[in-house]
Amino acid sequence: MIAIAIDGPAGAGKSTIARRAAAELGYIYVDTGALYRAVGLFMLQKGVAPSDSTAVCPLLEQVKIRLAFQNGEQKVYLGDRDVTGDIRTPEVSMAASDVSAIPEVRKFLFSLQQDLAKTNNVIMDGRDIGTVVLPDAQVKIFLTASPEERAERRYEELREKGEKVRFDEVLADLKKRDYNDSHRTVAPLVPAETAIVVDTTGMTLEQSIDKLMSIIEKKL
Ligand code: C5P
Repeated sequence: MIAIAIDGPAGAGKSTIARRAAAELGYIYVDTGALYRAVGLFMLQKGVAPSDSTAVCPLLEQVKIRLAFQNGEQKVYLGDRDVTGDIRTPEVSMAASDVSAIPEVRKFLFSLQQDLAKTNNVIMDGRDIGTVVLPDAQVKIFLTASPEERAERRYEELREKGEKVRFDEVLADLKKRDYNDSHRTVAPLVPAETAIVVDTTGMTLEQSIDKLMSIIEKKL
């Protein structure tokens, strides 16, 4: 099996680029952030503070997450409910960032991610794929861009979906998540030693995809 790991901060364009690359290669695209988002959503629904590990941990055994892949698109289920859309709100983004700092949550999601790569050729995106989840991935890429540009992309995405958001709030949220993700003690966001760092600041989506595809083609 072949695994391509794409890590990087929020809004770097990982999912859009990885989805396109997976379609070109015929691999499945696994968005691991969706798993942390599903756990975050579950805790919000239970009325539990997502950063409160003593409240979160005992509830983990009730969390039934399933990923399904239809025409290369990932769907996320919590129990029988399709939550693919529900997990894309700013509130759930922050809840995901909070639960992701809890070691038990990371452990809970670990084998689910590894099992997918055992049975499929995958492009997996996240924060710790090249460092922790798939350390033997054939290709590791760390995708980044300036905070302002990443916030701009996220802002446009949310506005297109009809969410009422302010740019300064999106930027502040993103910086807070960057800080949380890079400073947590377990699996912090850092490039894997062998990762190729790609900074997409000032690049169009097409340029970023071309760049990524040329790295992947050279490595495989
Ligand atoms: O990628 P996305 O923005 O959907 O991820 C939501 C949150 O989940 C991130 O801010 C991060 O805290 C967490 N996450 C993680 N490890 C991953 C993927 C996501 O900690 N592999």
